[in-house]
Amino acid sequence: MKNNLSNIKKAIKYLNNGQCIAVPTETVYGLAANAYSNKATEKIFKLKKRPKSNPLIVHYYNLKDLKKDCEINDLFLKIYKKFSPGPISYILKLKKKNKISKNVTNGKQTVAVRFPKHKLTRKLLKDLKYPLAAPSANMSKKISPVSKEDVIDEFGNKIKFILDGGRCKFGLESTIISLENNPEVLRLGAIDKKKLKKYLVKKNNQKTRKKKILVPGQGKVHYSPDIPIRLNATQPKKGEAFLLIKNRKEKNKNYYYLSKNKNMEEVGKNLYKKLRKIKNKGFKFIAVEKIPKKGIGEVINDRLLRASKKL
Ligand code: TXA
Ligand code: MG
Repeated sequence: MKNNLSNIKKAIKYLNNGQCIAVPTETVYGLAANAYSNKATEKIFKLKKRPKSNPLIVHYYNLKDLKKDCEINDLFLKIYKKFSPGPISYILKLKKKNKISKNVTNGKQTVAVRFPKHKLTRKLLKDLKYPLAAPSANMSKKISPVSKEDVIDEFGNKIKFILDGGRCKFGLESTIISLENNPEVLRLGAIDKKKLKKYLVKKNNQKTRKKKILVPGQGKVHYSPDIPIRLNATQPKKGEAFLLIKNRKEKNKNYYYLSKNKNMEEVGKNLYKKLRKIKNKGFKFIAVEKIPKKGIGEVINDRLLRASKKL
């Protein structure tokens, strides 16, 4: 912990100087900067090559801090009490007087917020005088990093400091829910949609709404390892790496395993790590075994489908 404390101090120094740094969360690593500063948040977009039209998630320590910037309601409080801190993000209305940089929201009246559970980042947020805007610490549209090494793989020495918090527990991004009008899940993620169902019962008939709200950053192509992915494969073709859910006795050089025993949480945790590993081994193609859609399997299938779309 002593080491951790000195690293947190370093992180604070960089952030107070308007730099962006990488921070661990229980989902994936984030590329963090002072959410109240135009200059600091500008750097996030530049580093990631992320279009300004894609708003960022703001990470808070607690409700007291959040209330300075956002309007909250009873439904939010109920869900917050159950799931936060944890891998869930909320879309809330901004207060008229708020300090969030316009870069973060792309000028919208709403903002995505989250209370991460990772110990180091919670300590960091507690000690800072501002919340942190932090998208996943990867180049726009690429695979999210789940360890310090992955962040280095994405950015090399372009990031001044990485707060090393070890391997991310979930390895998949947070679930995003909108609590702005009709409550709904906008992005599947680490918290199972089913667990949220009872909170998100709609008051009005959903059919009356014409257009589905989209998360601006959830384009069809995302989470890409930069090489083609073939889904629901039963056998690898020549030159393909084969990604399987469960360990097999066969020891083929091109076989990669997502779990020892088909545990879906473990599959989720390992997904991005293995995709990155396969790409870095120099494979030009990946075949992935069919993955059951149960529980977190639905999220894994969502990410793989987007990762398999052509760039
Ligand atoms: O687990 C996570 O959520 C990670 C860690 C670092 O916290 N962060 C993350 O951020 O996944 P990012 O930027 O990669 O994804 C955030 C998504 C984007 O697709 C963005 O379009 C959407 O949230 N978003 C942000 N603000 C929004 C808003 N006001 N309305 C709708 N969608 C929003
Ligand atoms: Mg991302």
